[in-house]
Amino acid sequence: MPRMNLEASSSIVTGGASGIGEASARQLAAAGSRVVIADLNQEKGESLANELAGLFVRCDVTSADDAKTAVAAASEMGPLRALVNSAGIGWAARTIDRNNEPMELDKFALVININLIGTFNMLSQSASAIAKTDPVDEDGTRGAIVNMASVAAFDGQIGQCSYSASKGGVVGMTLPIARDLSAAGIRVNTIAPGLIDTPIYGEGEESDQFKAHLGQSVLFPKRLGHGEELAFMVMELLTNPYMNGETVRVDGGIRMPPK
Ligand SMILES: NC(=O)c1ccc[n+]([C@@H]2O[C@H](COP(=O)([O-])OP(=O)(O)OC[C@H]3O[C@@H](n4cnc5c(N)ncnc54)[C@H](O)[C@@H]3O)[C@@H](O)[C@H]2O)c1
Repeated sequence: MPRMNLEASSSIVTGGASGIGEASARQLAAAGSRVVIADLNQEKGESLANELAGLFVRCDVTSADDAKTAVAAASEMGPLRALVNSAGIGWAARTIDRNNEPMELDKFALVININLIGTFNMLSQSASAIAKTDPVDEDGTRGAIVNMASVAAFDGQIGQCSYSASKGGVVGMTLPIARDLSAAGIRVNTIAPGLIDTPIYGEGEESDQFKAHLGQSVLFPKRLGHGEELAFMVMELLTNPYMNGETVRVDGGIRMPPK
């Protein structure tokens, strides 16, 4: 059985303007897919889309209308075969602060809304379009979806309750969604990245020092991962016809301590 062929297809990468999403968009384009960069960052998104002969669509992943716009734009460039859900935010705060005051509920809800509900929104809208395309192989495959969770879904640190809850939700919904979409020939997998060198940690000298320090806690190799290394796994999960319903850690063997 050959790998799923992405040539002449279209795809959507949320958060595609930066980091892991950008690296995934580059590899999807190299595989012959016309990529929609669905992101809030217009400047970076447009410049990458031009470079890849794709399309930038300003899309807030929490909006059903924006998701529909992104899906329609992709479908015009070719049959939609792949969605990579990489948009996400990191935000740290403890359940109660140093003065024993509770976390603001709105902050917790914001992280859940973008990382979990936003992922589901893009996924359901994309799956609906993929399900209406013609199958590409004798199994009846129509497409594949990859979500970006985090190792924080399993070993969340102090201050990560909202982030871990959002990513744990993504891990938890992977199997039932794969089951829901099996009748449509759509595979669904999730990646749990470890510490990856992207703008999520900020930019500049201070963040470089912080990242060098973080790298020491990785088992091997003792460094942060590169977006490209995560994109290798994205492409594997998208194109390997027998990968379905799974969450894969890509983390250099790290197990996060409490802090
Ligand atoms: N970098 C890491 O160490 C790491 C580790 C574990 C998990 N992750 C996850 O991987 C994914 C990608 O992270 P990254 O490091 O590449 O981050 P990044 O900050 O480099 O890129 C995230 C992109 O998402 C976009 N985005 C944010 N909110 C959005 C919204 N509401 N709608 C549309 N786009 C939005 C941003 O504009 C940005 O371009 C995220 O889900 C993140 O939680 C990253």
